[in-house]
Amino acid sequence: MKTITVLRGDGIGPEITEAVLRILHALKLPLTFEVFDAGMNAFANCGELIPQAVHDSIKKNRVVLKAPITTPIGKGFRSVNVQLRQRYDLYANIRPAHSLPKIKTPFCDVDIVIFRENTEDLYTGEEIVISDDEVHAIKKITRHASERIIRAAFDYACAKGRHKVTCVHKANILKKSDGLFLSCFQEIAQAYPMIESEDLIVDNACMQLVMDPHRFDVMVMPNLYGDLLSDLTSGLIGGLGVLPSANIGNDYAIFEAVHGSAPDIAGQNCANPLALLLASCFMLEHIGYPKEAKRITDAIDKVLQEEKVRTKDLGGTATTTQFADAILACL
Ligand code: NAI
Ligand code: MG
Repeated sequence: MKTITVLRGDGIGPEITEAVLRILHALKLPLTFEVFDAGMNAFANCGELIPQAVHDSIKKNRVVLKAPITTPIGKGFRSVNVQLRQRYDLYANIRPAHSLPKIKTPFCDVDIVIFRENTEDLYTGEEIVISDDEVHAIKKITRHASERIIRAAFDYACAKGRHKVTCVHKANILKKSDGLFLSCFQEIAQAYPMIESEDLIVDNACMQLVMDPHRFDVMVMPNLYGDLLSDLTSGLIGGLGVLPSANIGNDYAIFEAVHGSAPDIAGQNCANPLALLLASCFMLEHIGYPKEAKRITDAIDKVLQEEKVRTKDLGGTATTTQFADAILACL
């Protein structure tokens, strides 16, 4: 029996977690789930964003399914997400954007996998207040972190039969920091002669992604660009409600949606649980249940093909619960 730590999160988190857990339970796998509050819900109850019991559970289970957690802006809170990624050294944030059936988008057959460096760049949280009128933020790029995320992208390309890896950077301006990331990329690319490699400046990459997403395959980039470009690629396939993500390190893995806690629609039972559900499929593959993951993705495809049941963000009227019911009916 394998145990998974589940964090219910804030905002729409508890609603989409419930939907996804119902579906996972229906697979009748030898899995148990330790479900915790984390984030503002936990803070309200026990004064901590991530209670010690959550860390104990993560350390024991090593695999986490996590709903989005709110980070209040400007109140001295550090993002729980960034804390978890750094504490568990989850250096590879993998965000696959695959087009889904019958969802109205400008392009079909988009298939782009972003590898976002997940532990440094501007997310170290080091901001130096020089005066009331001047603040410096530190952008940290190291050879170690750059090399491991770039290798992870090339290894993934090899393992999955992909043909190209694109490095995204701003080395024309950030000559030393992004310059280091780019030079790591150029060195490592040489060890993978069977995979095509290219590099693009981030602004150009944004334009090309919305003009011609089919030219991209696997992409690798420092943390900030990965954050921005993955929301962009979610827009290519139907929005934030459909993009899953895996945070992978050598010892731990956290699977989550790319989107946040969506406070604007929380508590209305209208959030799309698909991104978290696809993240749970990613998790099932990771822990050795690829066939069961495929059962869920097949059910998702079927429900979307039928064009009857879909949530509001995808142009439908189904509630979160109704969408989960439709998936369950297909399993
Ligand atoms: P957001 O992703 O929560 O929402 C952006 C827009 O997308 C909203 O209009 C929302 O209604 C919509 N949306 C998001 N997920 C959806 C879903 N599953 N179904 C239907 N519509 C959906 O981004 P926002 O508003 O910038 O952030 C809200 C909070 O979430 C912030 O506190 C932020 O720090 C946090 N956040 C947490 C993340 C995480 O836990 N991994 C990731 C991103 C943001
Ligand atoms: Mg983001």
